[in-house]
Amino acid sequence: MKKKLFSEIPYLTSQRLVLRKIVPEDAPGLTELVNSPNVYRYLPTFLFEKKYDVETVIERLYDECFKESIILGIFMEGEFCGLAEFYGFRDDAHKISVGYRLLERFWGQGIATEALGLMVDYLYGQTDIEIITASTMMENSASARVLEKNGFDLVVRASDEDWGYEEPTPSDKWIR
Ligand SMILES: CC(C)(COP(=O)(O)OP(=O)(O)OC[C@H]1O[C@@H](n2cnc3c(N)ncnc32)[C@H](O)[C@@H]1OP(=O)(O)O)[C@@H](O)C(=O)NCCC(=O)NCCS
Repeated sequence: MKKKLFSEIPYLTSQRLVLRKIVPEDAPGLTELVNSPNVYRYLPTFLFEKKYDVETVIERLYDECFKESIILGIFMEGEFCGLAEFYGFRDDAHKISVGYRLLERFWGQGIATEALGLMVDYLYGQTDIEIITASTMMENSASARVLEKNGFDLVVRASDEDWGYEEPTPSDKWIR
């Protein structure tokens, strides 16, 4: 029997990575992340971790935020590397969107590719999700590669979306 996404806080592991619930001890890593302009350059402005101070964010991640999103920490050898997110759940359509963001010092080591692989395996292996989507800013070639390497197809190019900026954001839409 397949689970419903949002019926649990997922705990996902590979040899190298753990994707798990964020706890108060993770505040320093999360603080570094939210204060990294280069990380948020290609992201929407309205992400939950930016909504409050870090302590409040951590307190509310699995109640207030959990109504909309599941945000997990990505850890390598116990060290906080970034966040993985499931959002835009459509239970009737068995559909979910995925996102990820890493501290800059962890870029280029295949971590996002591996984390997304764990997310896809969980969604298709353990839940009744049938469609996984993602959106990237057109300039974000690294994220596009991460999606390609996980078998996502580019289905819409340069669709104007509201990512919270003054101007609409031309974004690419991906499906797996
Ligand atoms: C996008 C991001 C998650 C990638 O994480 P990562 O762990 O460095 O990604 P990986 O190492 O798994 O794979 C990156 C791939 O992109 C490629 N790449 C990296 N920078 C690139 C660039 N500027 N142009 C083209 N390709 C690039 C890498 O070579 C690699 O592909 P390869 O394995 O074929 O060589 C990370 O850069 C990040 O956190 N960026 C800021 C937040 C963000 O943009 N999140 C995604 C929003 S949609």
